[in-house]
Amino acid sequence: MEFRDVMLRRRMVREFSAEPVQSEVLDRVLEAGLHAPSAGFAQGLELIVLEGAEQLSEFWRITDPRGRKHSNDRPPPVVVVPLTDKSAYLKRYAEPDKQGLGMDVEEGWPVPYWDLDAAMSVMLMLLAAVDEGLGAWFFGIFHGESALLECLEAPEGLQPIGALALGHPAPGERRRGSATKRPRRELEDVVHLGGWA
Ligand SMILES: Cc1cc2nc3c(=O)[nH]c(=O)nc-3n(C[C@H](O)[C@H](O)[C@H](O)COP(=O)(O)O)c2cc1C
Repeated sequence: MEFRDVMLRRRMVREFSAEPVQSEVLDRVLEAGLHAPSAGFAQGLELIVLEGAEQLSEFWRITDPRGRKHSNDRPPPVVVVPLTDKSAYLKRYAEPDKQGLGMDVEEGWPVPYWDLDAAMSVMLMLLAAVDEGLGAWFFGIFHGESALLECLEAPEGLQPIGALALGHPAPGERRRGSATKRPRRELEDVVHLGGWA
């Protein structure tokens, strides 16, 4: 698929068919996430992949106890939890070529690039999913973060930036969410040529 088509077709898909995602397709989507840029090429991202009734029901039980996100009967067959590893960035920026920037401590970072880089990886996976004919949905984890980390046996210090659901769109699935209620901003409203004018 042409890049522009992938970009324009991408939207969050929130209802999935029961069809499983083939492992080689899933691998290609996950692999796309490894092509994201990252500060100092620190690559402080880990991807936990949850599949199957046991893992997924545990994920939803912990993160969505009121069943608001998965209350529909068309849940995703795969959920990826991207975890950021801030310590990888602090370690990387303590290396000789980065010394003196003061970024070997968290306070030295003007922006938490571990989160930014993870978002870039997620974006690539969202696009790769479209390219593979899958639907994908990024959503926040607003509940049970520490219980989830414990359940996943994630090493200390790792943090989820949200979750990425993947699967085949359910028949009849249609756009939902905020994008159906709010217009996309126009280019001339967003772009400020030469300054704020
Ligand atoms: C950081 C971030 C958090 C989001 N959290 C949620 C969420 O918790 N639940 C949800 O249904 N959608 C969530 N979304 C999806 C947005 O609602 C969606 O991207 C936006 O409405 C634009 O629609 P589109 O992606 O379908 O074009 C999130 C998107 C981003 C980038």
